Amino acid sequence: MPTRSTVILGTGSYAPARVLTNAELSTMVDTSDEWIRTRSGIRERRIAAPDEASSDLGVPAARRALEDAGLTPADIDLLIVATVTPDTPMPACACYIQHKLGIPTHAACFDLNAACSGFVYALDTACAMLESGRYRKALVIGVEKLSSIVDWQDRTTCVLFGDGAGAAVIGLGETPGVGLLGTRLGSFGEGTDLLCIPRGGSRAPSTAESIAARDHCIRMKGKEVFKLAVRCMDEAARDILEQHGIRADQISLVIPHQANLRIIEAISSYLELPMERFFVNVDRYGNTSAASIPLALDEARRTGRIKPGDLTLLVAFGAGLTYGSALIRW
Ligand code: COA
Repeated sequence: MPTRSTVILGTGSYAPARVLTNAELSTMVDTSDEWIRTRSGIRERRIAAPDEASSDLGVPAARRALEDAGLTPADIDLLIVATVTPDTPMPACACYIQHKLGIPTHAACFDLNAACSGFVYALDTACAMLESGRYRKALVIGVEKLSSIVDWQDRTTCVLFGDGAGAAVIGLGETPGVGLLGTRLGSFGEGTDLLCIPRGGSRAPSTAESIAARDHCIRMKGKEVFKLAVRCMDEAARDILEQHGIRADQISLVIPHQANLRIIEAISSYLELPMERFFVNVDRYGNTSAASIPLALDEARRTGRIKPGDLTLLVAFGAGLTYGSALIRW
């Protein structure tokens, strides 16, 4: 067991200004507001401008988190960016953000890809690195410009995703029992083909033909992913509660990955926790992958849904198929 505890010192988020409504989407593909709302709970999503890269979304979220923590970029010696849409395949999005924010060169900066579970994975990584005593202050960002990898002709996926960013500043805590109490991460590698970008990697580099077929975009087997999402998130939530001897009804707020309102409702029913204890903003942002949990966490804090002493459960699921949970005492 680590002797040091880690705490969230501040959070921030940012969503691009452009709102894409279901009504507007239904002029682009054969869909309707009614279909999207009843199947997913999504009403609108944000779309980054063509010249806005993931780092441009991550920077304002990070600035807000630093301001909330009362710190400056000079205080950060560890930057982890969870994303599947870095500005470029190489170098890491973290390096662009480091440069734009002016984080010192002695800071460790890298990206982490655990898809929609990325923020929970990055949080766990940052906390372990802080607990090692080798780092003092971490900035963890979940950011996505999913509009850049969505197939805008595929109605089964393009209606679900959006762009955004969320960030958290993490430091070492002084009060025992307050901060990140634990995490439970997992991965179901058998499911790699259920949610993926088939081309553009080392297995099958993009060709003119594959690009014409839009195989560099997200492909998903929605029904299978839905079932596994519910199963894995329920397991991740139950396991961590059991590990810490905590009953579900002791959790003040669950911040689930915002993929689909029906998935969140299923978890609420499995855990026998009412929907009022779940933070939901999927209606306004759609699924923003690694950005979804930190964006929701920041909105929850800023709207007074989290108070000192509360227990919050983060629970995530994404391509991989990765999943994970984190338990935080404020
Ligand atoms: N508009 C209108 N009709 C659509 C549509 C759209 N945007 N997308 C699909 N359809 C059609 C399908 O073609 C299908 O038609 P058919 O019956 O004639 O073949 C019909 O609607 C029903 O499709 P189905 O796949 O059964 O819908 P569903 O109830 O499973 O909902 C999802 C589809 C994608 C919303 C749902 O499966 C889901 O949310 N899956 C999980 C996705 C997810 O969260 N992924 C990210 C995890 S991190």
